[in-house]
Amino acid sequence: METKRTYILGIESSCDDTAAAVISDSIILSNVVASQSIHELYGGVVPELASREHQKLILPVVEKVLKEAGISVNDLSAVAFTNGPGLVGSLMVGTSFAKSMSLALDIPLISVNHMQAHILAHFIDDPENDNPDFPFLALTISGGHTQIVKVNSAFDMQVLGETLDDAAGEAFDKSGKVIGLKYPAGPQIDKLSKNGDPNKYTFTKPKVDGLNFSFSGLKTNFLNFINKENRINENFINDNLNSICASLQKVIVEILMDKLVLASKQTNIKTIVICGGVSANSKVRSELKINSEKYGWKIHIPKLSYTTDNAAMIAITGQLKFESELFSDLETSANPRLKI
Ligand code: KG4
Ligand code: ZN
Repeated sequence: METKRTYILGIESSCDDTAAAVISDSIILSNVVASQSIHELYGGVVPELASREHQKLILPVVEKVLKEAGISVNDLSAVAFTNGPGLVGSLMVGTSFAKSMSLALDIPLISVNHMQAHILAHFIDDPENDNPDFPFLALTISGGHTQIVKVNSAFDMQVLGETLDDAAGEAFDKSGKVIGLKYPAGPQIDKLSKNGDPNKYTFTKPKVDGLNFSFSGLKTNFLNFINKENRINENFINDNLNSICASLQKVIVEILMDKLVLASKQTNIKTIVICGGVSANSKVRSELKINSEKYGWKIHIPKLSYTTDNAAMIAITGQLKFESELFSDLETSANPRLKI
């Protein structure tokens, strides 16, 4: 007897991207992300505005993704959604939408941890993705999180270290704001750094024991440095923008790599994956390659569209949970502080 093909819809609404994707047999059939540009006006994500935008965008985004996948809503085998961590109002939009679909279509509901999903994006079947072997270490670096996770299997993960304050993406974005860059500053700093001297300025690295991170000291150090130089030369930023960016990027990436090297030594695990928006950074990628040669690491860098917030990662996690029948019930609610 022919087995019915499964189609799983993934929905992501944890922060400021309203996203949906359809997966079948680990292959992404369609992947739609509507990024909310409204937050650029405010220099960061405004939670209240984010939930309102999700409410406006979620139906058109889901309609579009089903159309692009060439399936009807009645073909769906299950609906997976992010239930945390994230902004509560944003999460509630995706949660309510997914619950309604599950109830109306009488299909299983699957709740997904956003941080697990960033890691499991590596298991999407895609020519640009290369699936890692267990166990491996994952460095998840985004605008909201910075973690090193030991991944024993798809749903057996252990956080070895995380940030005590700001996330790596915030270190880029908040420092970028100080030098007049628009939110999110990370990609612009990456671009401007290409024409700068990374050794021109030195910023202090935090002293944090073990595998945890801290970026708030760097932010203050950077702000004080800019203020001091501005007092001497009011055009300091304009005159030196590329090198300021390159020097800042250098120290952020060093902080990340120092801990990753330590984690690999402590666990003796040499399969390393990176995930989250900041893993798009060109210096993160180049330093990872240098370290892979130095330490004999097998590294996995995901396809760009699976690094920043997306629903393809929710859909692959949904599929893995579907195969293990890890379903949720309609009592499931958004959990802004959900842990791995
Ligand atoms: O994973 P993501 O899309 O959303 C969160 O879950 O936060 O990550 C967004 C973060 C932002 O802080 C953005 O500045 C940063 O990723 N980012 C980058 C680059 N591309 C995105 N940071 C540095 N270099 C990049 N090329
Ligand atoms: Zn994320």
